[in-house]
Amino acid sequence: MDRLRRTRMNPHLRSLVRETHVRADDFIYPLFVKPGEGIKTEVASMPGVYQMSLDEILKECEVLQALGIHSILLFGIPAVKDSVGSDALCDHGIIATAVRAVKRAYPKMFVVTDLCFCEYTDHGHCGIIDHVHETVDNDLTLGISGQQALVHARAGVDMIAPSGMMDGIITTLRDALDSGGYVNLPIMSYSTKFASGYYGPFRDVAESVPSFGDRSTYQMDPANRREAIRESLLDEAQGADILMVKPALAYLDIIRDIREASNLPLAVYNVSGEYAMLKHAGKAGLIDYNRVMMETMIGFKRAGADIIISYHAKEVAQLLS
Ligand code: PBG
Ligand code: ZN
Repeated sequence: MDRLRRTRMNPHLRSLVRETHVRADDFIYPLFVKPGEGIKTEVASMPGVYQMSLDEILKECEVLQALGIHSILLFGIPAVKDSVGSDALCDHGIIATAVRAVKRAYPKMFVVTDLCFCEYTDHGHCGIIDHVHETVDNDLTLGISGQQALVHARAGVDMIAPSGMMDGIITTLRDALDSGGYVNLPIMSYSTKFASGYYGPFRDVAESVPSFGDRSTYQMDPANRREAIRESLLDEAQGADILMVKPALAYLDIIRDIREASNLPLAVYNVSGEYAMLKHAGKAGLIDYNRVMMETMIGFKRAGADIIISYHAKEVAQLLS
């Protein structure tokens, strides 16, 4: 062992014995689309991340492809929000329009959509509200989620990613897609999603801060490891094609656990608050940003992730090339 370490200065030997690799291909890059034209608004809490109108999104796709990033995760920010998130259910809503335009301009771009209601509802929760219990009504939300999936499917999406943590969502979406004829459209489930403070900056960019309460009635308790594994395995049993752990950094043990409990591909979501921490620490000169970023990405892969959803994706791809 020591002999290998003493010769690590030889770059070829170093790569021969390296166990973990990060490639531009491992990444899915999140994009936030807004109605309008010529809009590119930086998010104060997330330098380098923007809300963009569709024309800017299309320009960004060009940049991404040149960097070797061929997968995006689209979030829609509609012009009008209401109690049920109607924009998400409309074939001419923001997300359907964006998917159609991206696929027309960049047919090879692998387009994933976040499937949830919190960006579309005026109360900012992930589904229809049960006013008696002041929480989301799971089953009413399932009822309209199938419609949302078909809106994405008709627009030409390549994969849907339900993020609302409703019980039974994968069965509901699979049934809706299959009966609509979309039997080959895969589902990447946000299968193990914790109720986390790390989503703070995202809710600024997606304009989805809940107007009352929090998401702890449908997202998971960070203290629960067995429950975390169970949640992902339930989604696998319902037909999810790819599982996910979110957030990533504080949950590396869970990534490893799920990697070992399931043979499905596993994604991790390196969320907004994790990005913001590195970004601001780097800007303040407290850390070597590039080095810490790459170390973090290697950590996700080493823990067992196949796919990394990250706002760092462009910077990583730049460093790798
Ligand atoms: C919507 C959704 C959220 C994120 C992805 N999809 C926010 C939330 O659950 O509050 C968070 C992503 C991030 O923080 O980068 N349900
Ligand atoms: Zn949501």
